[in-house]
Amino acid sequence: MSSTAIELVIAPTAERAAMRVADVIAHAAAMAVRERGRFTLALAGGRTPLAAYAHLAAAPDMPWARTHLFWSDERCVPPDHPDSNFGAAAGVLLSRAPIPPDHVHRIRGEAGPDDEARRYESVLRETVGGVPPRLDVILLGLGEDGHTASLFPGSPALDERARLVVAVDPPPGVVHRRITFTLPLILAGRGVVFLATGAAKAEAVARVLIAHDEALPATRVLTARAQVVWVLDEEAARDLNDVLKAQGRQAWARQTPPAV
Ligand code: 6PG
Repeated sequence: MSSTAIELVIAPTAERAAMRVADVIAHAAAMAVRERGRFTLALAGGRTPLAAYAHLAAAPDMPWARTHLFWSDERCVPPDHPDSNFGAAAGVLLSRAPIPPDHVHRIRGEAGPDDEARRYESVLRETVGGVPPRLDVILLGLGEDGHTASLFPGSPALDERARLVVAVDPPPGVVHRRITFTLPLILAGRGVVFLATGAAKAEAVARVLIAHDEALPATRVLTARAQVVWVLDEEAARDLNDVLKAQGRQAWARQTPPAV
């Protein structure tokens, strides 16, 4: 287990947590453009980050013309399906942010999953570059079972060390097949930001941040990287210990977005 530097921010509410994530991304974008002339961002799926995307769309200084968007996972459904991660982001972000259409790199959920996983990996290698490609920011969510992206507990995809993007079969209770980043791609990211809000995530948050429970895929990200930023609201932070709560609230009060 590496000595992980956890940058923990505990916001008073889910809305304020979303605003902070938008700030973190906008700050990272400005740094990336200054240093490398562009910004590469992988969006998380699920419902939690949608509020952050709405704030990001309104961020006054986002360098959209120099930003490339990816998704860290997608459900194997068409983009207009209600469960599409792309479709959800399109409504709150793409419809408002002036990002060049050819900078939006959608996972084609309607395509054959295995072929699309290989295609998307090629897009990442060609667009981002590097071996493995180093995205500037990878935004991740957290499931109540500790999954992140579409890396579910016990999934063979967790042991993938060569492929950067794979198709996965859903665990019981999950409807759609998925296409997901693998750990090698996530761990290569220059910055990784988790956003989790709501009391339903509190147990998984504590199992990851306190117990470092390796049965939870999100822990595999935490313990293998030098730095990970976690943005929580008070409800998701409920089961943390007093030291982590004090650390996270002090980080919130500083109002400066943590560097990712
Ligand atoms: C997905 C996500 C997944 C998500 C968590 C949390 O496609 O579902 O990538 O990892 O982030 O399941 O989802 P909510 O934000 O909807 O709780």
